[in-house]
Amino acid sequence: MRRRMIVGNWKMHGSAAELAAFEALRDSLPEEGAEVVVCPPATLIAELAGRSGRIALGAQDCHWRPSGAHTGDVSAEMLAEAGARYVIVGHSERRDNHGEDDGLVGDKAAAAARAGLVPIVCVGERLFEREEGRHLDRLEESLSRSLPTGSDNLVVAYEPVWAIGTGKAPTPEQVAEVAGFLRDALGRVNPEGRRAARPVRILYGGSVTPDNCAALLAVEDIDGLLVGGASLRSETFLPIVESAR
Ligand code: PGA
Repeated sequence: MRRRMIVGNWKMHGSAAELAAFEALRDSLPEEGAEVVVCPPATLIAELAGRSGRIALGAQDCHWRPSGAHTGDVSAEMLAEAGARYVIVGHSERRDNHGEDDGLVGDKAAAAARAGLVPIVCVGERLFEREEGRHLDRLEESLSRSLPTGSDNLVVAYEPVWAIGTGKAPTPEQVAEVAGFLRDALGRVNPEGRRAARPVRILYGGSVTPDNCAALLAVEDIDGLLVGGASLRSETFLPIVESAR
């Protein structure tokens, strides 16, 4: 059984002023249903860990080494010690703003797994790749290089780059095509033992709202949602969590 999962990615939003809102969210979560993960900025993880209740915490990125001369970076071990259980790797904003490629993402995912974190590995095509009919090839290539070697305890998030922060989510049919393809590809991609044997949860992310979440969750092979903008306010995040019950 793959338990449903709703992940809120706060991106570079959130300060100590949000602690009360986080506690309110924690107290209003349904008793049962989807696993809820919040990924705040790294500076808030330790603070939120003491008050997270049933909410699991995740980080938004990690370095591929456990420690060293890497100014400004944070390792997976440090995030685990702060209280994170998950870490997003390969988000398109990291790929675009920091030049991260699939190989680096794979190294980060492996580092996360070594530190005992579950990596949420993001893959997604760009608009021109979809328009040229190359999106599935691109996704398979990305997946094959971004999966961690030696671990199959991971989550995969399908995040089409053109849907992130744009208000333009794909249709459920488009998501279904990709989710089914990724499910097959997870059993197939296997350079260097990067093959996921255990049932991996596949999330969809990109312009998820309370209005489109139910249709996206109804897609076969989609086990949950990665939510950016709509995760910042309980009024929009809670209905999404409720719809995953
Ligand atoms: P969005 O972001 O929901 O604001 O489009 C999704 C994401 O970046 O994970």
